[in-house]
Amino acid sequence: MTESFSLKVNGVQHRLDADPDMPLLYALRNELGLNNPHFGCGLAQCGACTVHLDGFAIRSCQTRIADAAQGEIVTLAGLGTPANPHPLQRAYVEEAVPQCGYCINGWIMTAAAFLKQNPKPSDAEIRDALTGLKCRCGTHMAILRAVKRAAEIG
Ligand code: FES
Ligand code: FES
Repeated sequence: MTESFSLKVNGVQHRLDADPDMPLLYALRNELGLNNPHFGCGLAQCGACTVHLDGFAIRSCQTRIADAAQGEIVTLAGLGTPANPHPLQRAYVEEAVPQCGYCINGWIMTAAAFLKQNPKPSDAEIRDALTGLKCRCGTHMAILRAVKRAAEIG
């Protein structure tokens, strides 16, 4: 049965009528037109759909809209602006990370939440934090360089 939800995304409040079981990813992409979080596996296994909920990286394909509606949601589009990019966005450009780009949302959003908790991580801590994310283009080494660079310029 449809319910009315109020979603705060990137600082903007949206009202949405939806099934409470609707994945947050569908609400963001299909209802609000926010296309940074991608549908990859739909099973919480690849990370392409990652957004922040109250500062924590979550997989929006497996998060019900009813469970996200009370929190503050941030997508990649809300992380920085072209004039004032997030250090990770700068570092990804400087290290020329993206290939097809499909996975990048998940890596950046996961790393951004991690760097907030641990601004000066070791290589091993970065690898641990990013475990479970998938990139079929094989950009993993460039991603590691970019996260380290972001921590330096952060
Ligand atoms: S699409 Fe959500 S983890 Fe793969
Ligand atoms: S850049 Fe293509 S899947 Fe990661």
